[in-house]
Amino acid sequence: MLEKDIQEVLFSEEQLKARVQEIAREIERDYAGKEIMLISVLRGSFIFMADLCRAIDLPCTLDFMAVSSYGKGTSSSGQVQITKDLSEDISGRHIIVVEDILDSGNTLSYLLKILEHRHPASIRLCTLLDKPERRTKPVELHYCGFTIPDAFVVGYGLDYAEQYRNLPYIGILKPQVYGG
Ligand code: IMP
Ligand code: MG
Repeated sequence: MLEKDIQEVLFSEEQLKARVQEIAREIERDYAGKEIMLISVLRGSFIFMADLCRAIDLPCTLDFMAVSSYGKGTSSSGQVQITKDLSEDISGRHIIVVEDILDSGNTLSYLLKILEHRHPASIRLCTLLDKPERRTKPVELHYCGFTIPDAFVVGYGLDYAEQYRNLPYIGILKPQVYGG
């Protein structure tokens, strides 16, 4: 039913699962002997976060925050607002921010600046997808699932107007769906 709106499947369930395992191994290697705190940026990263945290064999705590930047369109408005802040104190902790997609860089450059002011022991960024062609703000990226071309993608947590998050794969949305 949702499939009719998908132009092309970019990453299947199996591909996503395999890549999540590889990222988890990288993180385990980099943080061996340490405790980490994963921060999921809601809502797009909730599925990636759920899979990633279960793949990582390290002492780990989780927290969530939400920001708004997109509204119902397909491009960042430039204005970023925290709509749900963290519940935990991050000072002295090893933080990994878990995002669904790095696009213009607006959201994350703002968010990382705010989190750095709270004095974590370290802070790194892990994003499932990266769309480097659209970057307008530089953001340092440590863990990346896949680099993708400039297309609007949905599924595996990513939405268009809050729809399609429940697709188990990642696909390119047909431009006629959003009038592009
Ligand atoms: P940025 O601030 O432009 O980097 O936008 C980041 C946010 O925009 C992501 O966390 C997503 O929520 C959303 N976003 C950017 N590109 C896409 C896309 O292709 N599909 C769905 N959401 C997207
Ligand atoms: Mg997001």
